Amino acid sequence: MTFVGEHQTGKPQSTVLAVEDLSRSFGGVPAVDGVSFRISGGEIVGLIGPNGSGKSTTVNLVSGSLRCDSGRILLRGSDISNRSAYQVARLGLTRTFQIPRVWGRLTVAENLLVAGTDVSDESATRALTRRRKLRQQRGELEERLFDILATLNLTPLANQQAEVLSGGQKRLLEFGRIMMSGASVLVLDEPFAGVNPVMCRALQDIIEALRADGCLVLLIEHNLQAVEETCDRVIVMATGKIIAQGSLAEVRASEKVISAYLGQAS
Ligand SMILES: Nc1ncnc2c1ncn2[C@@H]1O[C@H](COP(=O)(O)OP(=O)(O)OP(=O)(O)O)[C@@H](O)[C@H]1O
Ligand SMILES: [Mg+2]
Repeated sequence: MTFVGEHQTGKPQSTVLAVEDLSRSFGGVPAVDGVSFRISGGEIVGLIGPNGSGKSTTVNLVSGSLRCDSGRILLRGSDISNRSAYQVARLGLTRTFQIPRVWGRLTVAENLLVAGTDVSDESATRALTRRRKLRQQRGELEERLFDILATLNLTPLANQQAEVLSGGQKRLLEFGRIMMSGASVLVLDEPFAGVNPVMCRALQDIIEALRADGCLVLLIEHNLQAVEETCDRVIVMATGKIIAQGSLAEVRASEKVISAYLGQAS
């Protein structure tokens, strides 16, 4: 298994996101235990592994949603370890959650507009107070907004409060907020879960288009077919540690991966 710091064009790319010896325990039990990896601009990397292996905790640490016990996270060479999610988002790293989070009291369109004006501090109150600013900037953002609503089949729901959306629609809205944000480092926690196959394909195409624009994508996913179709390479975690990295075909052949994950999954 080799680490390949390059995406599918074959050209070496410089590291954008580096995670070094990252650890986090809960009540003395390690959830993430000495995890290190590097991802370059334009790469789509899958993070896979059994339930409870530390994938979401890893992305929570990387995105500033959770504090690490030790280790470092470097974004374009700057140490972002233990910065807040808001600060990390302002540096161009944004994420979706395993359970989608939307501002329920804002409309679908307003959720998207907030993401387009400021890369979210996850506070509904502050989002509401920004309504006035949103109205002023609406003209500039409307074209992008309408495109994204149409792409995600959310146009008929544009003026509905987001809290009435179904689980799958909330996931699409979260994805739309990523598209609006203009972020260049995207961390997606099971973005296809609960999304119908046609929309799943559409989201995969959007991820590919974002990559073509130079975005880096770290994507947690249990659906290995979607991983195979979407990701350039994968990182496999088990019990808080990385047990393999490489192409999906390479890691599938690893005895460690078969015994920790694939044997159990099939
Ligand atoms: N806030 C928390 N408090 C206590 N334990 C936690 C917390 N968050 C995660 N854990 C524990 O850390 C371990 C890793 O959880 P994590 O959510 O990172 O797994 P995962 O790989 O994302 O799993 P899944 O595929 O089921 O989403 C689990 O044992 C979980 O119970
Ligand atoms: Mg998870």
